[in-house]
Amino acid sequence: MSTDKKISRRNALKRMGTVVVSSVIASSGMFSLASCEAKRNKRIIFYFTGTGNCLYIARQLAGENAELLSIPQMVKRGKYDFEADEIGLVYPIYGHMPLYMVRQFIQKAKLSAKYKFAVLTYGARKCDSVEIWDRISRKAGNAFDYIGTIVMVDNWLPNFDMNEQIKIDKHIPENLQKIMADINQQKHWHEPVTEEERQQHQGFMQRSGLDPEVGFLMKSEKCFTVTDACIDCGICTYVCPRGNYELTSRGVKTSGDCEFCFACIQNCPQKAIQFRKSEDGSFPDGTEKNPNARYRNEHISLMDLKLANNQKL
Ligand SMILES: Cc1cc2nc3c(=O)[nH]c(=O)nc-3n(C[C@H](O)[C@H](O)[C@H](O)COP(=O)(O)O)c2cc1C
Ligand code: SF4
Ligand code: SF4
Repeated sequence: MSTDKKISRRNALKRMGTVVVSSVIASSGMFSLASCEAKRNKRIIFYFTGTGNCLYIARQLAGENAELLSIPQMVKRGKYDFEADEIGLVYPIYGHMPLYMVRQFIQKAKLSAKYKFAVLTYGARKCDSVEIWDRISRKAGNAFDYIGTIVMVDNWLPNFDMNEQIKIDKHIPENLQKIMADINQQKHWHEPVTEEERQQHQGFMQRSGLDPEVGFLMKSEKCFTVTDACIDCGICTYVCPRGNYELTSRGVKTSGDCEFCFACIQNCPQKAIQFRKSEDGSFPDGTEKNPNARYRNEHISLMDLKLANNQKL
């Protein structure tokens, strides 16, 4: 027998140690925990948020383990390739459609995952938003296994008074619970859409004159004006997901392509940002329900929103 086949005293102790540690782990249940840990799916959740609803939902779906990524910041950095076991996306519907930056992202993205889910937040009428997202994402080569919606506070200032909206019980915890259970089971499902909802969306498109390929892409200098109430606090320069606000020696200026997400107008502490009235009365005409009521999701701080949308990277 050759000597190298003999086990040295040191190796024998090492092996014994392994056996002892393994049996301790097995008897204490640590082994099953350790293997669960190893098996836990890697989940990435992308989100876009104007007033925090989607950031809140994305956080709830993420729990403690998923990676949360801001779509405006991924677009700004030109990052479009991602791989995970599960990839989720949360965005607010605008006119039942995805906003422009979300379209931009999904068209360029290469999302590699066994399971993809999308949760669309809305405030009053979802219409055929699920089918619209299915069409757009499928065409981009990023089809989603699960598409659901959740109703939240409606931040559409032209029609809704934020002070009234926050009083309505929209059953968010119960609805969220159901979505979380579906996603955790990797359910394959698209929320059903009725013919009436499709017709309602068609009617809206005719009335609004919006381009279905673009949705709500505006120009911020045409939509908003900053009044003398401004105190140069700089909040608007952080919360705008397109970085459209600038502090200048002659006050705050805004310009550029605008998602119409209302992060700026809703978060200005002075209510110094106001809608401009459209000259020809075309949609959106610049009127609003209650210029004194502003909204940010109750679970989302101003700092959260600044970190989510900051474009000064
Ligand atoms: C430009 C715009 C258009 C909107 N269009 C709709 C809509 O068609 N249907 C609806 O129910 N809610 C609509 N909303 C409300 C938002 O979808 C809803 O409040 C969403 O939860 C906001 O998410 P956020 O807080 O993450 O920005 C719209 C809001 C904005 C700003
Ligand atoms: S958030 Fe309002 S007060 Fe602050 S700099 Fe912008 S416009 Fe001025
Ligand atoms: S200008 Fe205001 S509404 Fe437009 S993208 Fe920026 S924060 Fe949103």
